[in-house]
Amino acid sequence: MQIIAILAMDHSLLIGAKNSLPWHIPEDMKRFKDLTTSEIVVMGRNTYFSLPEKFRPLPNRRNIVITRTKIEWVECYSDIGSFIDSMKDQKVEKCFIIGWASLYDQFFDLDLIDQVELTLIDGKHEWDIFVSEFRSDFHEIASIDFEQWKFVTLIRNS
Ligand SMILES: NC(=O)c1ccc[n+]([C@@H]2O[C@H](COP(=O)([O-])OP(=O)(O)OC[C@H]3O[C@@H](n4cnc5c(N)ncnc54)[C@H](OP(=O)(O)O)[C@@H]3O)[C@@H](O)[C@H]2O)c1
Repeated sequence: MQIIAILAMDHSLLIGAKNSLPWHIPEDMKRFKDLTTSEIVVMGRNTYFSLPEKFRPLPNRRNIVITRTKIEWVECYSDIGSFIDSMKDQKVEKCFIIGWASLYDQFFDLDLIDQVELTLIDGKHEWDIFVSEFRSDFHEIASIDFEQWKFVTLIRNS
């Protein structure tokens, strides 16, 4: 199974703040939608509940939540191992890890991420939720530059 992390961060690895995002980039939202529609999106419990109610579950995607506390009507796994085993059993080919901080870090730490779809935003922002550095394990295969951010595709070093 190919596991892709999709995230937006600035140059200090900042991804946001507890209850909001430090940036508003409609192109980033559109890219997220384009890449993940019809796919599997995997998230932690807090991320699931941080989605606005009308986008919860995210439409036109198979939503999976990693949590020790089962959420009614939602496909949940109580840990990463059981999630991976089940996906393998189902012969799933691809999924997207959509966050948040704790889930990204765990999947990177376990070397489970094959590809990163990164929105890299210029500057440093005064917010407080970061991911751990992961880029030394990856190299860039594509990027599209915009004035204040770029879209970068990274794949794991072989
Ligand atoms: N600004 C935004 O756009 C945005 C987006 C997402 C999140 N947030 C907020 O950012 C804060 C930090 O997010 P976060 O990184 O803590 O969120 P998260 O990863 O979405 O959720 C953490 C929760 O996911 C479950 N979980 C994570 N790893 C697990 C594992 N290995 N096994 C079983 N369960 C696991 C646990 O739920 P249980 O305790 O139920 O087991 C854990 O408490 C939160 O306050 C969140 O609301 C903001």
